[in-house]
Amino acid sequence: MEYDVCVIGGLGRAGLPLSVVFAERGHRVLIYDKNEKAAEVVRAGQMPFMEDDGEEYLKRALQADRLHVTSNVADIARAEILTVVIGTPVDDHLNPKLELIMAFLEEITPHVRDGQIILMRSTVFPGTTQLVKEFFERQGRKVKVTFCPERIAEGKAFHELFSLPQIISGFDEDSIDRMRVLFAPLGCEVVRLDPMEAELGKLFTNVWRYCQFAISNQFYMIANAYNLDFYKIYEGITHNYPRISGMARPGFAAGPCLFKDTLQLAAFNNNVFGLGYAAMTTNEGLPNHVVDRLKLRMNLKEKNIGILGMAFKGNSDDRRGSLSYKLRRILKWEAREVLCTDVYVHEDDFLPLEEVLRRSEVLILATPHKEYRDLQLDGKLLVDVWNFYGKGGLIGV
Ligand SMILES: NC(=O)c1ccc[n+]([C@@H]2O[C@H](COP(=O)([O-])OP(=O)(O)OC[C@H]3O[C@@H](n4cnc5c(N)ncnc54)[C@H](O)[C@@H]3O)[C@@H](O)[C@H]2O)c1
Repeated sequence: MEYDVCVIGGLGRAGLPLSVVFAERGHRVLIYDKNEKAAEVVRAGQMPFMEDDGEEYLKRALQADRLHVTSNVADIARAEILTVVIGTPVDDHLNPKLELIMAFLEEITPHVRDGQIILMRSTVFPGTTQLVKEFFERQGRKVKVTFCPERIAEGKAFHELFSLPQIISGFDEDSIDRMRVLFAPLGCEVVRLDPMEAELGKLFTNVWRYCQFAISNQFYMIANAYNLDFYKIYEGITHNYPRISGMARPGFAAGPCLFKDTLQLAAFNNNVFGLGYAAMTTNEGLPNHVVDRLKLRMNLKEKNIGILGMAFKGNSDDRRGSLSYKLRRILKWEAREVLCTDVYVHEDDFLPLEEVLRRSEVLILATPHKEYRDLQLDGKLLVDVWNFYGKGGLIGV
């Protein structure tokens, strides 16, 4: 066939780095994605979002003429392996939108050819890979279905795709062998699981991380309530004490994956997931806690509050799921004015950093972008949940 692999959803945050490294390491890659604006940007050799070293890798892949982009679904017929990395959101009832996967399958079916492998790469509700297999069997199509979850962290994709072990799963030895061949040029270790194990394992990975953030955020809030600086305690208890050395640091734990995947796991376990729900309310409650602490200290109705950073994590331009927006919403009720700024996320009502610094009486570091390292605060109160400035995180009253 003309292409070794077609990455469907290949212009997204997970799909594009994968497409680029496949091409850079020798595969002939076709990206199929509906986002025509991003397609133009990528064809011109630019990344549509921030990703360390992304542009260099992308340019190399394009120069080698091994990476092409299409927005015509019929083109998926031209590749041996169809890698699916479309978004997998939850619905208004906090359940995975399975109908989205079903609609997607209906959409691609006329263009799927016998002999192709459908590689599911999105983070899916456990059982989805089996469901996709059965869908094509019902259609009388002779395709194989595998699941190899994406496990990169945004921003580190072009390092982690070569270093993280790759989990592969499938229903027969032939498709497993083909997954080994596909991922071999990345030079990473390969770990084999069954599809359901791999689906569940991917959710466990994200939810474990989310719960780690939650326990640290809970500790942070407890320390604050007693007017103690969590970070002083943290430094003390982690010093030369290996059993706790992996303890997460507090912060606004958010983004497009961790919360959503905790909901997917809860839905999978028939909503019996007390620990997961506790993690969600704890992490989502941190902005409320910050505002409550400030209210104990001052009359917010008389204050302008500046929010530094609207992306969901530092040095990123991804605003999806960011708790900065929740913080802004709460403060709009409570404060005289809320002034927002970000280095990489741009919206009409965001202000330049200098203006936010000048006009705010209180500043909240919501996203620790490196550009905020050397701010001139002129003695203004700065809330630093992250301890970015090394002066502790206490919001004292
Ligand atoms: N972002 C990450 O770092 C990351 C890491 C690991 C796993 N994941 C998982 O990967 C999946 C994708 O996440 P993302 O962050 O890349 O999302 P994204 O929204 O950035 O990318 C999805 C892409 O799919 C395209 N798309 C959607 N529906 C399509 C369709 N029917 N046909 C063709 N193209 C379509 C969109 O245009 C978009 O470019 C999710 O399941 C997510 O949980 C993401």
